[in-house]
Amino acid sequence: VDDRTYAKLVGARVRSELNDLKRDAQSAAHELGVDPNLVARAIDGDLPLAELYSVLDELERVYPIDASDLRLIRDDCAAGVRIMRASMSLASSRVFSRNDRSGARTPYYEYRDTAMSRTGPIKPEWIRPLRHVEDADPNNPDVQYNNGHFMHQLTFFIGPVNFYWEIEGERHCAVMNTGDSNYIAPFFPHSFASRDASQGALILAVTFGGEARRAQKEMYVLQDRVKEYLIDVDESRRGTTQLIRQHMRNACLSEGALRAVLGDSADLVLDEGSEKDLTLLQRVAHALGVGLADLLLPESCAPVVIRRYTPENGTLYPDPQCAQYRILPLAQTPRMPYMKGFALEVLGATPDLEDPLVSGLHSWVYNYGDTPVSFSWRPGGKALNSILAPGDSACIQPHVPHAFGIERAAIGKLCSIRVAGAMTAPTAIELSSFANITRVMKETRPWFT
Ligand SMILES: [Fe+2]
Repeated sequence: VDDRTYAKLVGARVRSELNDLKRDAQSAAHELGVDPNLVARAIDGDLPLAELYSVLDELERVYPIDASDLRLIRDDCAAGVRIMRASMSLASSRVFSRNDRSGARTPYYEYRDTAMSRTGPIKPEWIRPLRHVEDADPNNPDVQYNNGHFMHQLTFFIGPVNFYWEIEGERHCAVMNTGDSNYIAPFFPHSFASRDASQGALILAVTFGGEARRAQKEMYVLQDRVKEYLIDVDESRRGTTQLIRQHMRNACLSEGALRAVLGDSADLVLDEGSEKDLTLLQRVAHALGVGLADLLLPESCAPVVIRRYTPENGTLYPDPQCAQYRILPLAQTPRMPYMKGFALEVLGATPDLEDPLVSGLHSWVYNYGDTPVSFSWRPGGKALNSILAPGDSACIQPHVPHAFGIERAAIGKLCSIRVAGAMTAPTAIELSSFANITRVMKETRPWFT
């Protein structure tokens, strides 16, 4: 996005914020102590960026707003796609050392960037484990666990790599091979090591932030009070009662008031050991003025999930009679419904944009095979094409129809990961009740004229 287009968007965003504050250019300029023309030009996107940013700083100084919220994301994709070539990935190579069994710091991982866009949540790394092991002992002193990290991680394995992880002080090891995958919840320590120095063992460590990442700024303010939001997601009876109590506090609904509505059933609701069936939860939802879905927890699951490569379980897409792809789902968890990973095997010769791959999620693909894959996408009317050579990767924005093909008599091998940005079902449901959608994307009007 060029500076002028970006300034226009930020101007629209300033207008939106001033609408929220019930200020127009005139009244805001008066309170900021600046020329009204300056604020008007900021709103119209007619200021050079440096001047525009100083207006944002002034707005933050005078009003209770977050100026960083006014600095929009500069779209770094071209027509919805950003490609990173294997040569660019190689140029980003850096090696980090960790202690070995003797205490010496020796090379542990080589990291390389792959396609990444500031418009999406995915931070994918190509990682070559440089520490080699001869066993599957989770306490092998050559294996150095990390401290865990804030990002969720979906890992795709290429070659003989051991995966190590730690839960409540207990260490585990799984022997992984090409096509296997795992999911690791935030801050669980983990590590990887190669089992064969002669083979090209790799992992694609696709990390990403979810709703908690988007709430990070607020949590930096709330500090210890963040703990008040926690619920027992491993024990659904207890967790459901905790969730209902949070809604009760929000609604100023006392236990007595709940009893008045539900009678003796209120005891089941408030007892952390009791099962609450859907009929009861529907009555509770009604009493709280919320939806049934607001009271439901995902089923309990482990913080680390492993999935083995099982080609016989793949599904042919779009249909078995004319299969363009074989889709092999990677590790998944009901706690992360908007995280989808696939080993995507490309079978058809020509990318088929008549039956494209498309979703509301941000996508990332990496060619881990040894054959180039044709890549087409159609952000609007016109189709664009490129070739993803081995080691090339691409980010694809939501709702950009795309397709792959393989020219040679071979199977194209892509690792494909999809993750939601902020556009999840709650956002979609809220947005769908608005009287105007175009003004959400770019505010063009004051709140009254
Ligand atoms: Fe990690």
